Parts: sequence; C-alpha cells; structure tokens
Amino acid sequence: MNKTFVLSVGGSLVATPGPQVEFVKKVAEMLIRLKEKGILCHVVIGGGRPARDYIAAKRACAEGLNPDLTNAECDECGILATRMNAHLLLAALGKHARQSIPTDTTPDAVSPGLITVMGGTIPGQSTDAVSVKLARAIQCKNVINATNVPGVYEKDPRKNPGLPMLEKISHDQLIGIVGTTFTPGMCTVIDPIAAQILKEDAITCYVLDGSNLDNMEKCILGEGFHGTTIA
Ligand code: UTP
Repeated sequence: MNKTFVLSVGGSLVATPGPQVEFVKKVAEMLIRLKEKGILCHVVIGGGRPARDYIAAKRACAEGLNPDLTNAECDECGILATRMNAHLLLAALGKHARQSIPTDTTPDAVSPGLITVMGGTIPGQSTDAVSVKLARAIQCKNVINATNVPGVYEKDPRKNPGLPMLEKISHDQLIGIVGTTFTPGMCTVIDPIAAQILKEDAITCYVLDGSNLDNMEKCILGEGFHGTTIA
C-alpha cells in the first residue's frame, strides 16, 4: 500500500436515529476504490444516537436504585453501540476488511492489506481519541475526522451561525479551541485527548463534513477539499 489513513466517522452519520444502510454502503464502496488505488483507510466508527440513548437509559435505570453507577459503567454502553455500527461497515466490506473488531489500539489492530474497522476501546474517551491512538500505534500520520459540521470553528457553528470556518490551524490552536479535559457527553469537534496526541505525534488531521463522500474522497486523494487542516 502506498498510503495509509485512519478515518474517524462520527456515529451521527452512521446511526441517527437508526442504522443508515445506504450511507454505510457508499462508504464501503469508497474505501474499496481507494484500496484498489493503493490507499488503505482504517475506520473508527462512533456510536451516534444509539450510544446516547443507551447511556441515558442506563442512567435512568439506576436512578433511585443504584447511586454507585459510574460514568465509566455508562460508557460501556456507548462502546457497545460503536461496535454495533462497526459491524455494519464490516458487513459491507466483506473480504476487504479484517473480519474481527479490535478492542485495543495496538499495532496488532491492523493486518497487512486489509481494512480495519473498529469502535471504542476503553471508557472515558470518544472514538476521536481511538482513531488518533490507532494512528499513533501504526505510525500513520494522516487522520480524517468525518463529522457533522464542515470543519473547525472558533465556537460551535450550530450555536453561533455566521462564524467563518477555519481552513488551516496549528495543533496548539486546536487545543485552544477544544480544551484539555474530556468530560462525558462533551460536544467539541474533536475530543481533547485526541487533540493532545495529534500534537505530540505531529499527525495531520483533516476535519470535514462526513455526509459529503465526494469531498472526503478528494481529501484522501490529495485533490483539495472543503474542511479544516490541522497541522
Ligand atoms: P462517540 O465517539 O460516538 O462519541 O462514542 P460522540 O462524542 O457521541 O460522537 P458522535 O456523536 O458519534 O460523533 C459514544 C460514547 O461511547 C463511549 C463514550 O461514552 C462516548 O460518549 N466511548 C466511546 C468510550 O467510553 N470509549 C471509547 O473508546 C469510545
């Protein structure tokens, strides 16, 4: 393979509110096209609405009965939801993917010539952090964060309409925007744990709207894209 990417796909694209079969199939077709051109993209998938619903439901079940329920125990539901979503892409990729979902971000999470698809690993982080930890483990210097906004903004563009998207920012600027502490259910464009590792390992991260797969493919092919480059 000539080039490797780690692609973080927001769960909101794959499962909001239910499984988005056509979207998953289009992602698989894109990944296979790229693989045939010598570009291998490993994918980390988020939990989307099922993750949030099950985390909230688990909290609700414990209310008044089990005051000891921890955030980490709730995160376990989120992790399971990410893996359910990963199963969808595995089904679409068939022989092009490694047919088991890694539960850890070690070099063993990838197999030569095959696409790895995975979800969450440990409580206390989001799948953004998983994607960047996987990139670190396999020494991949290109991460794509496919999310539900066009790129990075100084503040959440859904709450602050009219703000310009930032086309190119440094790792330090990203940390200035997202902060340094992960809190459960937080809603920053990239989670702070991921932002820190991007900086430490000098990984280039492209943030873009994941619903536009043509734009994502252009980004991966180095053909210019709409979104933010963090380098
Ligand atoms: P996501 O990465 O999907 O979080 O993980 P998110 O911020 O909701 O992102 P979108 O909406 O998919 O883009 C869902 C939840 O799963 C748990 C966390 O509770 C997280 O909020 N999780 C995920 C973990 O605890 N560890 C992981 O490694 C991944």
